[in-house]
Amino acid sequence: MQNIFPTYQQYPIDIVAGHDWHLTDRQGHTYLDFTSGIGVCNFGYSNETIVQNVTEQLGQIWHTSNLYESALVDEVAGALCEPGMLAFFCNSGTEANEAALKLARKATGKPTVLSFNNSFHGRTYGAMSLTGNPDIQAGFAPLVPAIKFADYNDPAAITAIDQQTAAVILEVIQGEGGVVNGEPQWLHDVQTACHAAGALLIIDEVQTGMGRTGQKFAYQNFDLDPDIVTVAKGIGNGLPLGAMIGKQALAPAFGPGTHGTTFGGNKLALASAKGVLAQLTPTFLHEVQAKSVPVWQALQTEIAPLAAVAGISGKGLMIGIQLETTVDVNQVIDQLQQAGILTLSAKHNTLRLLPPLVMSSADLLAGLAQIKTVLTTIGEE
Ligand SMILES: Cc1ncc(COP(=O)(O)O)c(C=O)c1O
Repeated sequence: MQNIFPTYQQYPIDIVAGHDWHLTDRQGHTYLDFTSGIGVCNFGYSNETIVQNVTEQLGQIWHTSNLYESALVDEVAGALCEPGMLAFFCNSGTEANEAALKLARKATGKPTVLSFNNSFHGRTYGAMSLTGNPDIQAGFAPLVPAIKFADYNDPAAITAIDQQTAAVILEVIQGEGGVVNGEPQWLHDVQTACHAAGALLIIDEVQTGMGRTGQKFAYQNFDLDPDIVTVAKGIGNGLPLGAMIGKQALAPAFGPGTHGTTFGGNKLALASAKGVLAQLTPTFLHEVQAKSVPVWQALQTEIAPLAAVAGISGKGLMIGIQLETTVDVNQVIDQLQQAGILTLSAKHNTLRLLPPLVMSSADLLAGLAQIKTVLTTIGEE
């Protein structure tokens, strides 16, 4: 690539077509996709309802600005939010977290935000400053002030939540950090400490949300009650859309003129989101949970015992396979690509799987069998 900044280390695979959960590159090679475009195309690449919604919208109007009311915006917000919550639409996960940071400070009148080591919240200044990864922040100082970090799942972190704390932000499963599961009791202790200190609990559902773990939002697996939730990725199934969802009581802090973005609530992206939300039914979520059962059985019985594997983590169809230090995850990804399977990495030498939620059980298990073959061969080298 000669004409773009080299911010990404790219594979020499130019994907030009997709159908269901299969992708085809320019050379005509086909791939079974365990990436969903990094947790985005949860309904695959040719979902009929989404294609129809977006095509119809394309024939009507694409963009009108937020200066005019829109029944579509209100309808999608209503379908997205849990009762008693309101939405602010933006274009990405990082923007959703920017909005959350701004709203938390403005609503509480307090400065300090607590985030966690090994977290990822995005790349803009606010979201990057919330990201607990020194490699991502390196060279960009000075960062946004009054953001503190504590260790994820560490009971000592609770003591860092005090009367100065505007908000605590966390992922209930750290995605980019290597698919690290939050401890249920610890998550509840964080929430209790937030309530006691008058701090808002922000849950970043950018990667875990929209059905990925078998619930609409992953925090629902833990019965949590966040004040603010951020989403992106899967909500638009590939059209750029993000949202910050917050409790109705926070509305006075986000009145006219306080925050905005030209493309937030773009009609094409919302037409896609409408299709996503219409299909994210309890029945569909139940199907995701049901098809995860044989997947986790295979992970535990076939993959976990391999010499190359140090551990397995995640929930539903968000899967981390932590590899031993003797095995390079990038080499595994390369070999899987040659075998026709696309996968992802995450921190700590983790092979990360985020297949489209619509992938058939047969292909989920076929992919795992191929992963087992590659990990077995590499482990023996
Ligand atoms: C948990 C989490 N938050 C925020 C982001 C940033 O989202 P975006 O890349 O849409 O800005 C990501 C992206 O990977 C993420 O995983």
